Amino acid sequence: MPIEWNSDTREFHVRNDRVSYILRVLENGWLGHAYFGSALTGDRSYAQLVPGEFYGFSNRLGDPVPLEYPSGGSGDYRIPALAIELSDGSGVLDLRYRNHRVVPGKPAIAGLPSTYVEVGGEAETLEIVLADAIAQIEVHLRYTIYRDRPVVVRGARVVNVGKVPAILRFAMSASLDLPDSDWQLLALSGDWARERHVHRQDLRPGRQSVSSGRGSSSHQHNPFVALVRPATTEGSGEAIGLSLVYSGNFLAEAEVEPFGTARLRVGINPDGFSWVLEPGAEFATPEAVLAFSASGLGDLSDAYHRLFRERLARGSWRDKARPIVLNNWEATYFDFDEPKLLAIAAAAREMGIELFVLDDGWFGRRNDDSSSLGDWQVNAAKLPGGLDSLARKVEAMGLRFGLWIEPEMVSRRSELFAQHPEWAVGIPSRPRTEGRNQYVLDMSRPEVVDHLLEVLSTILGSAPISYVKWDMNRTITEPFSPTLPAWRQGEFMHRYILGVYSLYDRLTRAFPGILFESCAGGGGRFDPGMLAFAPQAWTSDDTDAIERLKIQWGTSMAYPLSSMAAHVSAVPNHQVGRVTPLATRAAVAFFGVFGYELDPTALSAEESAEIAGQVAFYKQWRDLFQRGRFVRLSSPFGGERDEAAWMSVADDARSAIVAHYRILSRPNPGPRRLRLRGLDPAAMYRLSIWPAPEEDEGAVANPVVLGGDLLMAAGLVLESGRESARQGDFRARLYVLEAV
Ligand code: GLA
Repeated sequence: MPIEWNSDTREFHVRNDRVSYILRVLENGWLGHAYFGSALTGDRSYAQLVPGEFYGFSNRLGDPVPLEYPSGGSGDYRIPALAIELSDGSGVLDLRYRNHRVVPGKPAIAGLPSTYVEVGGEAETLEIVLADAIAQIEVHLRYTIYRDRPVVVRGARVVNVGKVPAILRFAMSASLDLPDSDWQLLALSGDWARERHVHRQDLRPGRQSVSSGRGSSSHQHNPFVALVRPATTEGSGEAIGLSLVYSGNFLAEAEVEPFGTARLRVGINPDGFSWVLEPGAEFATPEAVLAFSASGLGDLSDAYHRLFRERLARGSWRDKARPIVLNNWEATYFDFDEPKLLAIAAAAREMGIELFVLDDGWFGRRNDDSSSLGDWQVNAAKLPGGLDSLARKVEAMGLRFGLWIEPEMVSRRSELFAQHPEWAVGIPSRPRTEGRNQYVLDMSRPEVVDHLLEVLSTILGSAPISYVKWDMNRTITEPFSPTLPAWRQGEFMHRYILGVYSLYDRLTRAFPGILFESCAGGGGRFDPGMLAFAPQAWTSDDTDAIERLKIQWGTSMAYPLSSMAAHVSAVPNHQVGRVTPLATRAAVAFFGVFGYELDPTALSAEESAEIAGQVAFYKQWRDLFQRGRFVRLSSPFGGERDEAAWMSVADDARSAIVAHYRILSRPNPGPRRLRLRGLDPAAMYRLSIWPAPEEDEGAVANPVVLGGDLLMAAGLVLESGRESARQGDFRARLYVLEAV
């Protein structure tokens, strides 16, 4: 995993056995970008990839020069990585190489979540200092390479080493110049209840971007994009990923310029952002994780899954088996009292569920969503014995107890708002916009963060609480903080997120045994920044099995199974009204952190028995469902077959579970084989089917023991024929493979 510096050709080669990242200092001292892709041999020069001469607009031949961290105004008209306003109002920088150093491991970024190392020799970091002598501005670029991951983690610090202030207009976390634009931009977009659908479109001349300006990473777009070749599939072809470890406003943008080269950049959204750099001050960007795969999207995703699960998530729950949850939200909404909750918990316990989560409505006078956020004291009318009594009774049943909170909010009708109206985000001269009858607390104010730490610590310390669901149900309007001077208001949105991170950091450290799950009206803040504190997230408020196929498929592009909370809910589904079989709902929710979101006291005896069977099955295969290698096989997005399929494989390939989902049944469908990936070709696998097929379902044409080579090269024979088609829509079947 060496980081090489060739002082003759002035090249840096950051590499391991999987990827190479090559930079070159140009003759004028600017930093050029040579290469990011499959590993190249070390101790060689690749200088021809970025000629040293630089003539302002181009090189000697008139070609655009690939640059590493470009700023505007001196001949490079592509999208810049950095823009600054100097004290004279000018904005041109001339950033030249000054020095560099290589440090073992990976330094943390103050105030921001980041990937890390745990053992010596796991990673090395290159830090390159660029400096503008006139402006007295330095940029410190950072590149971390792990020993055996196909990723490079980047970030930048902008430092004012002069004597007068400067205003940072924006600073991207990474910018990447590519020699051609024969790529498609893959992004995860949607809205509430349909988050992270996969969109893929050709790059074309000009700019294409996804972004958020809502104060959270958002339901609408995700801070992850990939560039894929038009022919790239799950199992083959090139893919470059860019992921931002950040939970606030972001921008991910690609530009194709007239010569057909492409530039990609990712970072905090420049819209609405600015940051005052006083003399001596510095600004650190969030980090960007760049990944490369020459063997398809599947391997790209796998690189992110492993990194995020092993070296971004932190705390005692990182590597532990996650409990099966029953959440009361869709069972009761706000309408509950202690006996009702205990009845639900008891029924959940009967079915083998491990943790009961009390969702919204347990505090203040909250009987609907019109009041009480901010008043984090138990609602004595509903829970006269308090949380402690309830939690102890739940624990006495043999379940753990979890609690919902929404710390960043305040209801207009609340004691907190009556006492501290100035703590709600807004512009004093204007009315505040309400969303879900609530305002957002000004997390840029340290006293707000301190207050929340205190009241939440009291609550979490008051009862045996094992799990916390931290929600965030509206986005920010009228961004402004009266604590900031006029010229610093552009800092608000970033300071808000820094406040959220500070609270998360202090609370998770104060309660190291609690499992935190993040949530934002479902999946509105499903991003790597949150994963650093909460190792799992509520994937979406939409629990319909068929909708979840798309949501979980899209989410899995960047995020591991262990991060995706997925629950079985009642039918007709509360979001789309669809009726799907109970087995199908479980077969989808199994792939992630499993649970239920329904009233177990309202089930028939058959349904309870079926759920008990699901819970037992999940427990048996929990490790595979939470930590297996996730392999996407057949996309739910508009495929001709109206199906979806995926699988999870153990790291040693000794076991795997394949899921096939038939969305709409088709008459007389014809034969179908599903080719698997990731198995051991030399192994023989014993096949069993879940749920166990009924006698009259039509024979499944596979023998009981099958070779890994056959399953991958020829495929698993799926049930087909007219008989199976008559079983109807929304059918799921799991194929369990165990090496013999
Ligand atoms: C959000 C969450 C739900 C639930 C409600 C409670 O919508 O995503 O799961 O917790 O808030 O108000």
